Amino acid sequence: MNASPSPASGPARILVVGGGGRENALAWALARCPGVERVWIAPGNGGSTAIPGAERLPLAESDAEGLTEACARLAIELVVIGPEAPLAAGLADALRAAGLPVFGPGRDGARLEASKSWAKQLMREAGVPTAEHWSASSEEQALTALEAHGRPLVVKADGLAAGKGVTVAETMEEARAAITEVFAGRFGEAGASLVLEEMLSGPEVSVFALCDGRQLVLLPPAQDHKRIGEGDTGPNTGGMGAYAPAPLLDAEGLEQARRLVLEPTLQALQSRGIDYRGVIYAGLMLTESGLKVIEFNCRFGDPECETLMPLLGPELAQVLLACARGRLGDAPPLTTLPGCSACVIAAAEGYPLSARSGDAIEIDLESGDDRQLFHAGTRLDEEGVCRTAGGRVLAMVAQAPDFDTAFERAYEGLAQVRFEGITYRRDIGHQVRRRPAPGMRP
Ligand code: AMP
Ligand code: GLY
Repeated sequence: MNASPSPASGPARILVVGGGGRENALAWALARCPGVERVWIAPGNGGSTAIPGAERLPLAESDAEGLTEACARLAIELVVIGPEAPLAAGLADALRAAGLPVFGPGRDGARLEASKSWAKQLMREAGVPTAEHWSASSEEQALTALEAHGRPLVVKADGLAAGKGVTVAETMEEARAAITEVFAGRFGEAGASLVLEEMLSGPEVSVFALCDGRQLVLLPPAQDHKRIGEGDTGPNTGGMGAYAPAPLLDAEGLEQARRLVLEPTLQALQSRGIDYRGVIYAGLMLTESGLKVIEFNCRFGDPECETLMPLLGPELAQVLLACARGRLGDAPPLTTLPGCSACVIAAAEGYPLSARSGDAIEIDLESGDDRQLFHAGTRLDEEGVCRTAGGRVLAMVAQAPDFDTAFERAYEGLAQVRFEGITYRRDIGHQVRRRPAPGMRP
């Protein structure tokens, strides 16, 4: 087998690392690209083998040695790393050291997400618009900065906290309590220091740039719904649904995001000697004084990835390989399909505080080119029965020429999925829909 394809061709054998809905969607999209023979997903989940051309590799995302060996054994030509934890732990570095092309930044670049104070410093130096901030490495220092400011601030644990490290405090009391909580060790090492930020307001939108270290390609903007409850209420989750392209950011807005945020950020990474090959995910807030970065992540968003993958053209595998090799210029332009994509997450009862698991999942759904059911927290038991195994269980995604039809198709699909305690929001995409979802009061 020839393990080094020519610059113009795509990878035939791909490994996707991760076990969520995002990784299932990546594997699905890559397996459809011409020239791709097989995609392995490590560790994958209960839906991995149902993807045509894909299979599970039962290795943990933290098992750098096992994954490196598997890549050699399977003659893998491209590795795509989905989640932030293995990126921050240096998995991309380990695989690159073994000579593999990897889509995903090394430990140095992953600091964009793994250290909020580092990212804020980089933004400040690069002139990227973002909230004013104060870094603190002790409770006393943080409380002093808060009192000096005199108004509630957003409190963010510095490190990776699985999306739970941010408190948007409405009162001084709440802000003080959040500071105390961070330094009391609630987030482990992630809370050894924190960032206080001025409170911004405005709608939020996610922009994803595929980078080869020097150049970047932007994907259509997406919007997710972070809160568990309808009307965007209740606690934050990883994301309960999403849609793309988000009309909030039109072509001109996306161009502004490129010019003001993504390009200067990539340049600032380069000037620190960081060869960033992977996704820069910019969480933006459209404030009255222009767009500002709320956070950076070093990977695709979940469920934004499930929403976006069906909108991307068959060049995806070639484009990700070209990024991994630092030669985006070698790849054909990435086409984006016309139309709208809608994604609704089915979660387990109790999520996000806890999550019921082990329930059998019944799926009675015909699949088609314009509707996909991506598995997230699922597993196959010894008898081959698919069971719930996590907070966010399934992502139902549909595409149509307009958002109303796309969401109708996604909700129709969800009506054909059953498990005990299934929970989903019926108002996903309310910003872009004119007709209520089935089952919703008008
Ligand atoms: P994160 O975990 O960093 O995604 O933050 C969670 C959410 O907190 C964001 O999606 C925003 O809604 C909110 N948030 C973060 N920073 C700010 C800020 N400076 N002002 C207002 N809201 C914020
Ligand atoms: N959906 C938000 C995230 O992946 O961080």
